[in-house]
Amino acid sequence: MMKMIQVSLKQNSYPICVGCGILSRLPGEMMRLKLPTDVIMITNACVRRLHGNTLAKAFAKSGFTIKIVEVEDSERAKSAEVAFDLVGKIASYAADKKPVIVALGGGVVGDLAGFVAAVYKRGIPFVQVPTTFLAQIDSSIGGKVAVDLPQGKNLMGAFYQPKLVFADVALLATLSDRQIKNGLAEAVKYGVIKDAKLFAFIEDHIEKLLAKDLQALALIVERSVAIKARVVTLDEKEAKGLRTILNFGHTVGHAIEAAGGYDRYQHGEAVALGMRAATDISVQLKLLKPVDAARIHALLTVIGLPKNVEGISARKIMAAMKFDKKFEGKQARFVLAQAIGRVVVRAVPAQAIVLSV
Ligand SMILES: NC(=O)c1ccc[n+]([C@@H]2O[C@H](COP(=O)([O-])OP(=O)(O)OC[C@H]3O[C@@H](n4cnc5c(N)ncnc54)[C@H](O)[C@@H]3O)[C@@H](O)[C@H]2O)c1
Ligand SMILES: [Zn+2]
Repeated sequence: MMKMIQVSLKQNSYPICVGCGILSRLPGEMMRLKLPTDVIMITNACVRRLHGNTLAKAFAKSGFTIKIVEVEDSERAKSAEVAFDLVGKIASYAADKKPVIVALGGGVVGDLAGFVAAVYKRGIPFVQVPTTFLAQIDSSIGGKVAVDLPQGKNLMGAFYQPKLVFADVALLATLSDRQIKNGLAEAVKYGVIKDAKLFAFIEDHIEKLLAKDLQALALIVERSVAIKARVVTLDEKEAKGLRTILNFGHTVGHAIEAAGGYDRYQHGEAVALGMRAATDISVQLKLLKPVDAARIHALLTVIGLPKNVEGISARKIMAAMKFDKKFEGKQARFVLAQAIGRVVVRAVPAQAIVLSV
């Protein structure tokens, strides 16, 4: 079974395919979309070994030519230097070709490969093949591509939509438990912002999800992808403020990541802490019933996500929040919950920010 979800953005529209065990169908899908048959696959050594070589064989079998380029397995690969190096390699290899870039990996590979696709010859087609839970439900969709600068994360980037997103949930079987928990934090986010049923599904299937039951994970990926696709369709470039709701938990979450030097907490863990803070602020401002807040906290706890910020002071987190683009004057713009499945965006004064440290 393969589900297709469409992101409708006029000439930038594209399908997202979600299924379990579908990887070998990617070449056929690319042919159906009339994408080029000269593939440059950007990946890392770990993902190549797990899935890249199999995919390369499937491409060769379907008559594609394929060149595989590996980058370092680290956020460090999302740098201007690596991007320039890749553009140079592609220019040497593909001078007489019209290639398509296939990003096979997590968010690091996806953001980097997408950025390279956006700038090489002012843009060549690219396909996202996300291999982490986070990448399947979040980073591969929506066209935000970027590399980091020493001054901060994602500072050099663009909106550049892929031609296809191809999410094979079977690839998630090899992820660590910590990565599954991190992905579940983003899935809880989708539940709180738009989908009470998704939230309840996570509550009801938590054991299966933590045990990496692929059918349960596939349902989460489908529903999360559908929400992100809908929000991106309504507000491709974050110009109407609608995409902001995807940042539930991220105002404080990003600040915690930055204040912790990006190695203390992984993204989903920091977002979980940020969602706890946003939930508490929502109750304090009488937007959300305490009983709903308790459900959010309880779900994050059973997933095994952190309860309190440890080892980073509240002062440091507040200072880091100034660099969040949602900070205006003395007030931070927060996505706050009104119910499970419904959020609003509000300016919150610094003194109303609740942090459990
Ligand atoms: N563009 C966006 O909208 C957006 C949204 C959220 C996050 N991001 C970015 O995404 C990045 C984080 O992505 P991530 O969490 O996927 O991290 P990642 O890309 O670093 O992947 C995490 C680790 O998992 C490994 N891995 C990948 N697939 C695997 C598999 N199937 N089995 C086993 N191991 C596998 C990778 O090699 C890596 O070591 C950050 O750079 C962040 O800024 C972008
Ligand atoms: Zn996130």
